[in-house]
Amino acid sequence: MASNEFQPLQGMSDIQAPEVYLWRMMEERARAVFASYGYEEVRTPVLERLSVFQRSLGDTTDVVKKEMYSFTPSKHALAMRPEGTAGTIRHLAGRGEEGLGARVFYIAPMFRYERPQAGRKRQFHQVGVEATGEPNPLADAECIALQKNLLDAWGLAGARIQVSTRGEPSDRKPVAEGLRQALQPHVAALCEDCRRRIEENVLRVIDCKNEGCARVVDRIPSPLEFMGPAARDYLERVMQALSAMGIDVVVNPKLIRGLDYYVHTVWEISHAALGAQDALAGGGRYEIALGRKAVPGVGFAIGFERAIMALNACGIDGAQFAPPGGIWLVSLGEAALVENMKLARDLRARGIRCGMELDAKSMKAQMRKADRAGAEMVVIRGDEEIAKGTAVVKNMADGTQVELALENVLRDAQAG
Ligand code: HAM
Repeated sequence: MASNEFQPLQGMSDIQAPEVYLWRMMEERARAVFASYGYEEVRTPVLERLSVFQRSLGDTTDVVKKEMYSFTPSKHALAMRPEGTAGTIRHLAGRGEEGLGARVFYIAPMFRYERPQAGRKRQFHQVGVEATGEPNPLADAECIALQKNLLDAWGLAGARIQVSTRGEPSDRKPVAEGLRQALQPHVAALCEDCRRRIEENVLRVIDCKNEGCARVVDRIPSPLEFMGPAARDYLERVMQALSAMGIDVVVNPKLIRGLDYYVHTVWEISHAALGAQDALAGGGRYEIALGRKAVPGVGFAIGFERAIMALNACGIDGAQFAPPGGIWLVSLGEAALVENMKLARDLRARGIRCGMELDAKSMKAQMRKADRAGAEMVVIRGDEEIAKGTAVVKNMADGTQVELALENVLRDAQAG
């Protein structure tokens, strides 16, 4: 096998302690925030029919065209989910009436075959929500407020929220025509992909990261300028609700987002600590038609890996959320080894973290293990202590040592 046989695949990571403690903190606090807004958890499969993504994300988007892990094991082409919205709406659409007006969240791995770099992975993780229901500016504002709440609960400062609109479904045609006309004199300055995109899906030109294309986009009107009054009014009402809740956002009419299912409000959250891949999160209102009926909803997803980069830059890391070190039992002699196994069982039954060496080892070797395990307290027993029903208890922080009756050891362990 190659020398990298112990490495995960390119663009994928093993997540271990102490970083995993940060993941756990984020997951726990996310669950608490979602519960406070009445969202229920949903766990959909990693694999879906490819058509679920083609029909919802749009088959001319980069994600669908270039980044899907897809294969055809038998009759149907399948794909590993590149994002959480499509599968969630597939699930909610199948619940009929009950699926409308649902509020669900997910915390799950996603897969995109992208060129890996800092903050851009092939397996990454999203925490996201979807709230189905007819368009309502207050629902969109509430969704942004929820997302802000979550970032605050993680302790993340310095996130910047940009908002725009994709307009009503009826705005699509005038927007596309307006943009095509505006781009016409600049075609020569566009990249090859964008020259094709003008006809295929002109909004993708506005979203292109190529520098030459970005310069052209700076000089043409924004999509908002081709929209009717209903779209502007809707955005205005979202902004008013956000302002009433004291949530700072900036309107960026050239914010497009990379997926085609959006209508009305779209937003993106960025953080200066992220560099080139500065989008920490994205969201918006959408309409997804998988069956005959379109499901309207609003939602967002935050990338865990990028949120962690931003949290690290704010001085927040996994070590700060390490579980308490617990108790280490030191056994001097065979009898103590067996007695300590019983004591360990009693401590663990009380939910107390506790470790011990299962082979007879020297006191020094056992103390070294206790230290490595980060134990806060060491309980030492030999034949003498067992005969008396006591134990020597050492506080690892200050090095003090006392001999206590066994029941007091249990009492103190539980209290502390
Ligand atoms: P998205 O903007 O494609 O939106 O992804 C949301 C977030 O996932 C990004 O802001 C980023 O933090 C993270 N992300 C995306 N791709 C990668 C990658 N290759 N490596 C690391 N992180 C990544 C969606 O996925 C929509 N489903 C959001 C949504 C939910 N809209 C409505 N409901």
